[in-house]
Amino acid sequence: MRARIIPGGRLEGTTTVPGDKSIAHRWLILSATGLGRSSLLEVPSSLDVRSTAACLASLTSKARPALHAWAHNDRLVPEGHRSTWNLRVEGDPLTDLRDALEVEGEGRCGLVAADDALDCGNSGTTMRLLTGVVSTTGFRSVLTGDASLRVRPMERVARPLRAMGAGIETTDGHAPVKVDGSVLNGTRFEPTVASAQVKSAVLLAGVDAEGTTEVREPAPTRDHTERALQALGAPVEIGDGRIVVGRFQHEGFSASVPGDPSSAAFLIAAAALTGSEITITEVGLNPTRTHFLDVMSRMGIRTEQSVRREELGEPVGDIHVLPTDGISAVRVDADELPLVIDEVPVLAMLVAHAGPDSWFCEVGELRVKESDRLEGLAAGIRDLGGHAAAEGDDLVVAGGGLGGGQADAHGDHRMAMAFAVSALAAHGLVEVEGIESAEVSFPGFVNTLAALGASIEHVA
Ligand code: S3P
Repeated sequence: MRARIIPGGRLEGTTTVPGDKSIAHRWLILSATGLGRSSLLEVPSSLDVRSTAACLASLTSKARPALHAWAHNDRLVPEGHRSTWNLRVEGDPLTDLRDALEVEGEGRCGLVAADDALDCGNSGTTMRLLTGVVSTTGFRSVLTGDASLRVRPMERVARPLRAMGAGIETTDGHAPVKVDGSVLNGTRFEPTVASAQVKSAVLLAGVDAEGTTEVREPAPTRDHTERALQALGAPVEIGDGRIVVGRFQHEGFSASVPGDPSSAAFLIAAAALTGSEITITEVGLNPTRTHFLDVMSRMGIRTEQSVRREELGEPVGDIHVLPTDGISAVRVDADELPLVIDEVPVLAMLVAHAGPDSWFCEVGELRVKESDRLEGLAAGIRDLGGHAAAEGDDLVVAGGGLGGGQADAHGDHRMAMAFAVSALAAHGLVEVEGIESAEVSFPGFVNTLAALGASIEHVA
């Protein structure tokens, strides 16, 4: 499916974005492995999050009906070009299922063997975090996923878990991943790649292992797992680039998933490219996720953040975007990458409108995301009449604006949304192939952008 975007116009208004995907995966896992009832609000109906819910349904008994119903609720599946996000039907139990989820956890030791392979769909977070969780069970689990996920690296998560005692076999380093769970021992782990998914897999195994588990990160990454564990009372020490956890069984909890700042980034970019002023409320403002706002400020995009409250250790508040007058070129250094790993597509598409050169240094990790984002971004910018190239592991965007034309997202949600918002400042009409993939992380993306005033529509 394609989106057609007519450049120009102005956006205005106040909006929300669907719940944070990273947080939702973690809180779903923690609800299914907690003791007693958890109540989760605003769980996003993103396809990735549903993959986690569906896998957890297969691994639980009491929690299974609710998780299964939520994961497979047809009302959540986008029909044709209509998205169900923002569709609220008062008093309709199916609507309530979408964003309020009651999960009856039976603790880590209440997990049961799944009848079939766990299908993680397109979601690397589902696969890596669940590999950590099932490593401490007494049974075998097989984790698989779609064609994109089956070519992503899995040894990075298998290796530390093996060191803790888990029996793990990857398929030439990839999924399917076979895990023979057992009693694990704590470990000291120094990953070579800064990855929140790998860190979280080890920490989630660590809270159910003997002794203590320490992860020493090469660079800070999103810290949702350690924040949630700490808020639930687990023994977690954080400092000097290390996180140490001890064995702990948490209880059920109630929390409302904050809006996803990575989704908000697309709306902020859309506002900046049209010189508009908008506000996004109820969004997660965890500093390990908002570094893209610093990069945007170096481009001349002005935003204000206000924290309003906390949810399970996560700050939540508003982002106000002030009118921007032109975008400046930027340099993003290698040490910043882990903090903007998901926002490079939108940042690169912003500086396609700046000049002269913008550099994203040592971003080779982008090659192993949902698609090869390094080559895909350079190609997409060129297809839209701009200038960009992958030079080794650097991305260089020469800027100067986009003419218009067609770009293919190759089924990658963040690429599709980045191309679509950058089109708002192009000189001519833009069509983005693969826009339906936005549902992976931002259900209702096109509708939300259109409701703010952008000329964007689905075309068959
Ligand atoms: C995520 C971590 C990041 C990010 C992904 C979500 C998470 O991946 O790209 O979209 O929820 O932990 P890595 O940790 O592999 O960099």
